Amino acid sequence: MKFDELMQARRSVRKYQPKAVEPEKLQALIEAVRMAPSASNSQPWKLILVDDPAIRQQVARATFDKILSFNQFAMEAPVIAVLAVEKHSLLTQVAGWLKDRPFYLIDIGIAAEQFCLQATELGLGTCMLGYFDEDEIKKILKIPRAIRVALVITVGYEAENQPIHAKVRKAADGMSSRNRY
Ligand SMILES: Cc1cc2nc3c(=O)[nH]c(=O)nc-3n(C[C@H](O)[C@H](O)[C@H](O)COP(=O)(O)O)c2cc1C
Repeated sequence: MKFDELMQARRSVRKYQPKAVEPEKLQALIEAVRMAPSASNSQPWKLILVDDPAIRQQVARATFDKILSFNQFAMEAPVIAVLAVEKHSLLTQVAGWLKDRPFYLIDIGIAAEQFCLQATELGLGTCMLGYFDEDEIKKILKIPRAIRVALVITVGYEAENQPIHAKVRKAADGMSSRNRY
């Protein structure tokens, strides 16, 4: 797939087939995160791929609750990726603090998009989830208390016959400008 086609093809997938994801595809997803750029090359991530059915269901259950249940579809995803914030270099910590800019979150966002684009290229669907019970996920996956969980991503083969909605995006001249704000 050419890059522009890949970009257009990636979209959030919220309905999955029960089919497992092949180990070599999971390896390619790890590589996509591993190769992502990061501030001062500090690579502030740990990618946890959860495909054990019992653990996966527990993690999925931690992405919705009675108040906001829109992530219930995570229960069907055959793989759930969890991106935790690994220790980042002192340089990025100081620079981030001085400039009031959370570089590690920018880095994780880039890595997450690389993950999702690679998944699309491999015929897999993904959905990034920002709404989850962080403490619960940390407990399930034995993530140390001091480590934050930044993002959860569901992964799997999209269920067949899903209606494909047009991407709703701001018009180019509304979200970009030249030479001034
Ligand atoms: C940081 C972040 C958090 C998100 N959290 C959720 C979420 O909790 N649940 C969900 O269904 N989608 C979530 N999304 C997916 C967005 O809703 C989706 O990317 C957006 O509507 C654009 O649609 P598209 O991905 O199909 O292009 C999240 C996306 C991002 C980047």
